[in-house]
Amino acid sequence: DDGYFTYDPGFTSTGSCQSKITYIDGENGVLLHRGYPIEELAEHSDFMEVCYLLLHGELPTAKEKKDFEHNITYHTMLHEQIHAIYRGFRRDAHPMALMVGVVGALSAFYHDSLDISDARQREIASHRLIAKVPTIAAMAYKYSVGQPFVYPRNDLGFAENFLRMTFAVPAEEYKVNPVVAKAMDKIFILHADHEQNASTSTVRVAGSSGANPFACIAAGIASLWGPAHGGANEAVLAMLRQIGHKDRIPEFIKRAKDKDDPFRLMGFGHRVYKNYDPRAAVIRKSCHEVLDALGIRDEPLLDLAMELERIALHDEYFVERKLFPNVDFYSGIILQAVGFPTSMFTVLFAVARTVGWVAQWNEMIEDPEQRISRPRQLYTGHDKRSYTPINKR
Ligand code: SDX
Repeated sequence: DDGYFTYDPGFTSTGSCQSKITYIDGENGVLLHRGYPIEELAEHSDFMEVCYLLLHGELPTAKEKKDFEHNITYHTMLHEQIHAIYRGFRRDAHPMALMVGVVGALSAFYHDSLDISDARQREIASHRLIAKVPTIAAMAYKYSVGQPFVYPRNDLGFAENFLRMTFAVPAEEYKVNPVVAKAMDKIFILHADHEQNASTSTVRVAGSSGANPFACIAAGIASLWGPAHGGANEAVLAMLRQIGHKDRIPEFIKRAKDKDDPFRLMGFGHRVYKNYDPRAAVIRKSCHEVLDALGIRDEPLLDLAMELERIALHDEYFVERKLFPNVDFYSGIILQAVGFPTSMFTVLFAVARTVGWVAQWNEMIEDPEQRISRPRQLYTGHDKRSYTPINKR
């Protein structure tokens, strides 16, 4: 009524806030995918089944699941020419830079023949992205360590294939640890979709112009890279290493509360959850399972993280602001134990979130009311004024 246009960053003029895919109740720490609680999916389902659910709205029958998995598996290999793109990057480039570049480059291989108004062609593009992003991710790691690329295999499941492409070397047979594969599959489930987060909104806004899905997903990857979003899992490990010992926790808690100090408790807080992030609880439990399976009896970073959580959740600053651990707080501890460098943590987030991005992109394109996203602004600049010649300035 004061003439100001209040703009909710989550809303775009495409009405993209209307979605049937994921529901979050931030006050009560509830996360549902097509109505199913994330805790039940993490416990009883697997990532391929959750991908089907997110894309099609229902859990698959045994045949539907088998056909879907076959379709994804048989599209995991990349066009051989794509391998050359990696050579254009420095070896020490951040793997997320390669992800943005190589996923975007898929447009050059699959875009021309793609008609996004055709549901079947959208489905094919969606499957290609879900199938090829893990291969691109594993190759980004191989390129960074100077090891040869490992081709996907059709006799392995999604998580096993990814682990083998990442860690196998030609010199010896790679055996996948089933507990690690299960934990990775669970981590993929927990990161698959999350309503209108920054990177999903980016994909929707990019897609609302009719841009091809490969370029839209590359835009989503770029948004996810930020430390306030998907980059937080990498930042949590750096923070824990910086704290170093539980005796130093009070010093960092004090810094996190100091408005003049840019330091924030990474992995804490959320734009929507004002209660415990349900995904963080599942991941914390998996930490112990994976460390046990790997024979890691004592992980100082996990002990430090749990002590940091305990202290923070008894501090009025965090309690008053309802700042709880989010999905990124514990995930890095598992990923580090499995052998991933911290630079790959956000890449893994992108591998998982690709299905959420393509599901939300499809939902937007299928919306008959869908229009190009064109958020308005609150103008706070100069009133109209006349040009001043340079000799009079
Ligand atoms: C993800 O949106 C999604 O769904 C994202 C995601 C997904 O699955 O896609 O869930 C994944 O991005 C999880 C978030 C990962 N990011 C981090 O862990 C980075 C650390 N967290 C913060 O930067 C922060 O909590 C954000 C970015 C997540 C939210 O920032 P906001 O919107 O500013 O938080 P807020 O409005 O709830 O803040 C309320 C207050 C503010 O202080 P006051 O102005 O009230 O004094 O809490 C403070 C904030 O300064 N605050 C923190 C804090 N997070 C918020 N203070 C210290 N440490 C923090 N982590």
